[in-house]
Amino acid sequence: MTILGPSGCGKTTLLWAMSGLHELTSGEIFLDGTPVVGPRPDAVGMVFQEANLLPWRNLVQNIVFPFEIRHRPIDWRRINSLLEETGLAGFEKSAPRELSGGMQQRASIVRALAQDPEVLLMDEPFGALDAFTRDEMNLLLLRLWGETQKTIVFVTHNISEAIFLGDRVVVMTPRPGRLARIFDIDFPRPRTIEMTFQPEFIELIQEIKRAVETGARQTVEVE
Ligand SMILES: Nc1ncnc2c1ncn2[C@@H]1O[C@H](COP(=O)(O)OP(=O)(O)OP(=O)(O)O)[C@@H](O)[C@H]1O
Ligand SMILES: [Mg+2]
Repeated sequence: MTILGPSGCGKTTLLWAMSGLHELTSGEIFLDGTPVVGPRPDAVGMVFQEANLLPWRNLVQNIVFPFEIRHRPIDWRRINSLLEETGLAGFEKSAPRELSGGMQQRASIVRALAQDPEVLLMDEPFGALDAFTRDEMNLLLLRLWGETQKTIVFVTHNISEAIFLGDRVVVMTPRPGRLARIFDIDFPRPRTIEMTFQPEFIELIQEIKRAVETGARQTVEVE
């Protein structure tokens, strides 16, 4: 699922609420039928706009950090296969400053997935990357999603990215952030970058853009 909405509408706030890091003023959030009442780092992984790697630790030390703070045995098999999958194998000893933005962001995805969470919450993880790297990261994410079968909630400002990745695009309105519309995306998978140039894709971008713009006036109620 991807969540799309203008800056300041509360996308980050919503993700934090989903992760249990933010108290709700009303309503409830359920994870597998259980209400979310506090952080559940075993079940919910997060990836942010910045990779947030610790600069004094090398790449692999950053990836094992969550295992260390939670006193859990390090799952090297999973880590090594994720490093391989994301093209980071061979860079284990590199310092974050020696890695490109895309590589740092891949490292932060590996760090989150290494914990094998049920749900991955991603807050504009590729927002700071150039268009080519973003395409590459989107393809990588789709592949990881297909392989791991995780539930991913992905927040973005970018309409094309929201459609490309999502099976559903949830459009939020400007403040106060309400749900404007939900679009079911039925472009076939595996998705390719070429699809984003097709007329149907471009029409959908325009339709969703209109929904974002008019969203402030029309909202739908959801459970
Ligand atoms: N439902 C809400 N009720 C009260 N305050 C809210 C709500 N949603 C968002 N806010 C407030 O609005 C501000 C902006 O929210 P937030 O950072 O979540 O926006 P955003 O959509 O992630 O923006 P950006 O795209 O710029 O990252 C925050 O100060 C937050 O506390
Ligand atoms: Mg935000």
